[in-house]
Amino acid sequence: MYEACFNNSFTNELVYYVLLLLLLLISPFLFVWELIVAVRSSFRRSENMSGKVVLITGASSGLGELMAYEYAKRGANLSIIAIEEPESRLEQVAHTARELGSPDVLFLFADVSKVDECRMFVEETVKHFGQLDHLVCNAGIGPLYSIDIDVTKFVPSMDINFWGSVYPTHFAIPYLRKTKGKIIVNASAAGLLNPPKLGIYSASKAALISFYESLRYEVSPTVTIAIVKLGFIKTNFISAKHSNNTTGVRLRRDIDTEIPAMGADACAKAIVYGVCKGETSITQPRFIKAIFLMKFLFPELYRLYNKYIDSTFDKLRKG
Ligand SMILES: *[C@@H]1O[C@H](CO)[C@@H](O)[C@H](O)[C@H]1NC(C)=O
Ligand SMILES: *[C@@H]1O[C@H](CO)[C@@H](O)[C@H](O)[C@H]1NC(C)=O
Ligand SMILES: *[C@@H]1O[C@H](CO)[C@@H](O)[C@H](O)[C@H]1NC(C)=O
Ligand SMILES: *[C@@H]1O[C@H](CO)[C@@H](O)[C@H](O)[C@H]1NC(C)=O
Ligand SMILES: *[C@@H]1O[C@H](CO)[C@@H](O)[C@H](O)[C@H]1NC(C)=O
Repeated sequence: MYEACFNNSFTNELVYYVLLLLLLLISPFLFVWELIVAVRSSFRRSENMSGKVVLITGASSGLGELMAYEYAKRGANLSIIAIEEPESRLEQVAHTARELGSPDVLFLFADVSKVDECRMFVEETVKHFGQLDHLVCNAGIGPLYSIDIDVTKFVPSMDINFWGSVYPTHFAIPYLRKTKGKIIVNASAAGLLNPPKLGIYSASKAALISFYESLRYEVSPTVTIAIVKLGFIKTNFISAKHSNNTTGVRLRRDIDTEIPAMGADACAKAIVYGVCKGETSITQPRFIKAIFLMKFLFPELYRLYNKYIDSTFDKLRKG
């Protein structure tokens, strides 16, 4: 019945504009509705994490480590995972988390890009604690990408960022259903935006957003999914040292010497606060939310913003 309408190029366009106009007309009501939802959620009680069990991947450094400390301060039991490295700080992180208030911390070495290892650490966690409340799929790598570098160097980005989140989620869902638990996904603002020189990284994060937004409908309201979309945060991730030895893209100075970045402690605090409040989307620093809107509403202005990011990366490379 609709086919004829969509086949005719005039009516096909017309339906689109009528729909846009309708949205515009009801937008004041939608705005008020969004506001009510936001105000209501700010009054929601924060989840009591005392004695609950939180599994965090990629917890030996960066935001994974800091989120472990935030959960520890709230009295959660932790299972922290990181890849086995000669000078891994994972055991040290476990020690600090205990000092900060976590009753019991299990630490395990595993490679999240291997499905069997993901099954192992989820099973080991549940065997040790008897339950699982939050799964934090945090492990990620994010090399700056350049078209003149061997393309196969970037395959691990997809394996670690995307599959390294999907695998543990798959094994954890039966346990999370039992506790009405939460999944926290590390999806980066780059999953919605498309910053230059971060093409492969952004693609892996966009895949995460797509996957988890879709999964939400299968598991909610039993399991809550919180998708975290971060901008530049002051971790070793945006340091020249990290870029120099993870890809061929060599930087003269750290990225935050040119692009404003948020402090890592404040960021980890904001994420865990939002998650415990039951938020389903967490964006930090907050102004990034306006950039999302800018991309859709004013694409030309957004192009200028990306050109600024691009020229900044070039400046960091050439000095
Ligand atoms: C949180 O839960 C623990 C144990 O389940 C309980 O002892 C504590 O009083 C609770 N705290 C709050 C603020 O409800
Ligand atoms: C958390 O750890 C404490 C200390 O080992 C233990 O008593 C408690 O049962 C643990 N909670 C869960 C849910 O396993
Ligand atoms: C997310 O992954 C990136 C690398 O992809 C990492 O630098 C960061 O610490 C991770 N955690 C969060 C919460 O963003
Ligand atoms: C990274 O490489 C660039 C270019 O070779 C060099 O100038 C810079 O000092 C290096 N930075 C670090 C932290 O090693
Ligand atoms: C990166 O640099 C650090 C310190 O200079 C070094 O310990 C580490 O092995 C390097 N990593 C890689 C992948 O080369």
